[in-house]
Amino acid sequence: MGTIRAAARGSLLLALCIVSIDAAQAQFENNRRPPRPDVTLPDGPARQVILRNCTKCHGIDEYGYYALDRSHWDAVIERMKTAKSGLAEGTDISDADKEILLDWLVAEYGPDSEPLARQYVIRPLEDFELLDDAGATELIQTGCSECHGVDTVLDANLTVEEWRLRLMLELSRGGGVLIADTEPLVQWLIGRDGR
Ligand code: HEC
Ligand code: HEC
Repeated sequence: MGTIRAAARGSLLLALCIVSIDAAQAQFENNRRPPRPDVTLPDGPARQVILRNCTKCHGIDEYGYYALDRSHWDAVIERMKTAKSGLAEGTDISDADKEILLDWLVAEYGPDSEPLARQYVIRPLEDFELLDDAGATELIQTGCSECHGVDTVLDANLTVEEWRLRLMLELSRGGGVLIADTEPLVQWLIGRDGR
């Protein structure tokens, strides 16, 4: 996890954030490491809110991987109330602080922003991690049917690389699949009959 950099790197951040899925595809093919987000601590009221509530366990750079609307950012913050690390118990952010933070998050990393493409880590799977039809369908039902139907996923005929990039994009805008479940899902999606 990154550390907080208070330095004024706003313009660099903007440049780094404008990475399209095509650019991500090119990096994928060239096997170069994509840039990591470099989120600048804001100057406004959100600054103290973040320092008070959000920096005990990890840095703020990861916010740049997301382009979420208010309700999805709200869900992330709610999750942080029960998150644990070796260092601290979950955040006890007040409702007033949460509203200030949400204003800033949606302005900077809202649905219209361009999230930085997350690096896809391809890992070999153990047999027990492979998904059967029931497991995969349930994963798609719970994590991928909020904005479009399950059929949007099942009917898409993508290559293995396209699926990996697609999942990173869908996670950045609120898809409810854990990073650890992406490669099992990719393997199931490309292993279906007739693909
Ligand atoms: C008690 C420790 C703790 C605190 C305090 C905390 N977090 Fe987290 N955070 C975690 C853990 C653990 C994870 C990884 C598991 C997960 O995503 O739920 C995480 C993950 C995240 C992620 C996803 C990162 C990724 O992998 O892309 C975001 C975004 C995030 N936190 C934002 C926040 C915000 C905003 C606050 C303040 C409201 C906050 N966190 C406070 C522990 C914490
Ligand atoms: C927050 C809303 C949202 C969630 C959640 C979401 N998607 Fe999507 N998805 C979209 C939108 C909007 C589009 C159409 C625009 C585009 O192609 O990016 C789309 C398009 C797609 C497509 C392309 C279909 C085609 O034929 O071009 C696939 C495949 C897909 N989503 C898979 C998934 C998967 C897998 C998940 C779960 C991990 C998921 N989506 C979760 C919003 C969402």
